[in-house]
This record gives sequence, C-alpha cells and structure tokens, in this order.
Amino acid sequence: FGLMTYDPGFTNTASCRSAVTYIDGEKGILEHRGIPIEQLTEHSNFLEVSYLVLHGHLPTQKEYDEWVYDITHHTYVHEMIKRFMDGFRHDANPMGMLLASVGALSTFYPEARDTSDEFQRYVSAVRLIAKMPTLAAFAYRHSLGLPYVYPDNDLTYTGNFLSMLFKMAEPRYEPDPRIEKALDVLFILHADHEQNCSAAAVRVVGSAINDPFTSVAAGVAGLYGPSHGGANVAVLKMLERIKSADNIPDFLQSVKDGNERLMGFGHRVYKNYDPRARIIRGHVDEVLEATGKSSPLLDVAIELEKRALDDEYFTDRKLYPNVDYWSGIIYEAMGIPTDAFTVMFAIGRTPGWTAQWMELMNDEEFRIARPRQIYTGPRQTDYVPMGER
Ligand code: CMC
Repeated sequence: FGLMTYDPGFTNTASCRSAVTYIDGEKGILEHRGIPIEQLTEHSNFLEVSYLVLHGHLPTQKEYDEWVYDITHHTYVHEMIKRFMDGFRHDANPMGMLLASVGALSTFYPEARDTSDEFQRYVSAVRLIAKMPTLAAFAYRHSLGLPYVYPDNDLTYTGNFLSMLFKMAEPRYEPDPRIEKALDVLFILHADHEQNCSAAAVRVVGSAINDPFTSVAAGVAGLYGPSHGGANVAVLKMLERIKSADNIPDFLQSVKDGNERLMGFGHRVYKNYDPRARIIRGHVDEVLEATGKSSPLLDVAIELEKRALDDEYFTDRKLYPNVDYWSGIIYEAMGIPTDAFTVMFAIGRTPGWTAQWMELMNDEEFRIARPRQIYTGPRQTDYVPMGER
C-alpha cells in the first residue's frame, strides 16, 4: 500500500489547517480565535462570539450592531418550513427534525449553491445562525404538541430562544437573567471545537462543493450520535437509571467490566478536566435557584463524579468529565425534555460549523475529501448463477 497511512478514527491525521479553535488537551485549554473561553464566557455573549468565530476578530461597535441587526432580521423561517415540520410524527425526535429542516433550507435558498459568491456565503452564515434557534424551538414545541411561537426580535438572541421554547401567553415571555446567562454560556462553550465528528462531516460534505445548509445538515447528523452531542441525553438517562448514590458502586463496576461507558466522561483530545465542564458546572446551582427546583439527579452526578475521579480505572485512562456531563443537568432543570438536549448543542455549534465551512471554501489547498482504504475482501471471484449457489 505504499506510503498510505492506516489511521482508523483519524486519531493522528490533520485533515486541514485551521485558525478557528485552539485546544490543548493535556492542559485543558480551549480558545476561540485565540481568546480563552474563560474570558469569553465572563465578558462576551454568544452573538459576539459567533462574530468572532466566523470573522476571526472581535467586532467594533459598528460591526457588532450590524451583525446583531443582520441576525435579528433573519430569525423567521418560511411558512412552508413550518408545514414541513408539521409533517413529522407527534413523537419525532427533535434532533431528527432539526437535521431534516436544516437540510431543507438549502431548497429555500438555492442561490447558496453558488459557493463562490461572497455575499451568498455571508448571508447563508447569517441565516443559519439566525434560524437555528427557530427550527430548534419549533421541533421542541412539535414534540410537545404545542403551537409554534414566532421569534420576538426585541429580546436577545438567547432570550428570544427561551421565549420560543416556553412562551405560553401574551404579551411576552420574560426570561430569567440567570437562566438566560447560563444558556448563553453553554452556547459560547459549544461555539466551536475544531475537527470533531460533526465539523469533520461539514468539511467532508462541503468539499464536494456543497452549500452551507447541506453541509451543516451533515454536521447536525454527526452531532446526533451518543458518542458526540447525543452524550448529554445519554448522561441524563444514565443518571436516571442509577437513581440513587447507593447504586453507584455497582454501576462503576459494570463500566469497569466493559459492559457500558460512563457517559459524559472521556474525550479524544482532553486528557484532563474539560475546561467547558468546569465553567458550566459553576452555573448549575444558579439555574436550580432560578427555577426553584431541587434535582435529585444532581446529587447522584456529584457523587458519581467524585468516585470516578478517585478511581484508578478512570485516572489511568485519563477519563475526566466532559461538557456533556453537566449540560444535561442544566437543561433538565430548565424544563427541557431529554430528547431535545442535543438541539441546544446544535444551536451553539452553528457558528463553528459555518466558520469551518467558510475556512474550507477559502483554503487554497481545497480538494475533495476522499480518504483511502485498505481492502480486505476477496478478489477475482466468479459470479455464480442463482441455481448453483
Ligand atoms: N467510560 C468508560 N471507559 C471509557 C470511556 C467512558 N466514557 N471513554 C473511554 N473509555 C476507555 C475505553 O474503554 C478505552 O479503554 P481500554 O484502553 O482499556 O480499551 C480507553 O478509555 C480509550 O477509549 P477510546 O474509546 O479509545 O477513546 P476515544 O478517544 O476513541 O473516545 C469518546 C472518545 C468521547 C467517544 C469516549 O471517551 C466516550 O465514549 N465517552 C462517552 C461519551 C461522551 O461523553 N461523549 C461526549 C464527548 S464531549 C462532547 C462532544 O464534543 O461531543
């Protein structure tokens, strides 16, 4: 096979050059365009971070105002998209609905297929970031049998999303600032994460010269899986199954026996505490206080984390909590049904997917993604007619 490298799961293959996100997995560092997430979550907001991730620099006041204006004026979706969503079964998984409706956007904006048009690139990025919360909220409301709520563009990006999820009566939904902040922080933490499964999917599909809607739909599909964004769902289901701290030793034994995985633990790149998990952990108590709820699952999560971090099985393999270990607890406290957790992640990741697509389009070394293989099947075997098999 000559100089071909066999690298299943691409653990040691750099598929591109990228200036979007820096990760140091050993030290637990994550920077968007060079700025540490600790600073961004403290001082910025998701829309500003989206601008940063996409453009590569922080906006001036004028740039920021124009950006917010553009995003705010693209939050509505075509009425036919609404009808398209109506066609799903009453119990359709919101992530499946999101993936289909993002793909469907490409048919509403066929001009985006001209990927060389700079204006189309920009307006498609704006449309994706602006419409993703609307699609996500429609999918959520559909799964609950509730009427859709149209965007309220007088609210912030995250406040409007909460309104589209939870508004029940006129005139307006007033988001609790603690909940709005926690969700905005989660979106910032998810904004990009270099060449993970979904970003790689965006780039592979984009490399066949596909528009950003089609390419980002591939990203949403990648995120759906329980090893990736679907882990936040799996964590909650795991905690519900463990139910009480008394059952933790048996559960951990089952993990060590190789019967199952401790969901929300481990990461391909982080071999230390995921810095995103540390930040979001800091918002859990505040969200519970805001919702006035107690979470029995929180006690299980705290105890499970403590025991796993004290256990050689996990420390030897450098398995630490990742962002999804804590995000599910927050979503649950907010009253979001488990199946809708991953759509939250998708909203946060949209600027990253779009930036990765943009970077690909501007890459002078751009070529269609086409990995090779090591063939292990038979050769030169004769066709056997049906009656002789
Ligand atoms: N629980 C128990 N053992 C584990 C876990 C886990 N969560 N993760 C890895 N291991 C063990 C694995 O069995 C293997 O052990 P051994 O060397 O004895 O065979 C070793 O650790 C290395 O595992 P791996 O599967 O080769 O690691 P990977 O880099 O291919 O997988 C992962 C990374 C995230 C898919 C994996 O850690 C996992 O399945 N974690 C649980 C799912 C999860 O929380 N995913 C969210 C990732 S963060 C959010 C995102 O970016 O999507």
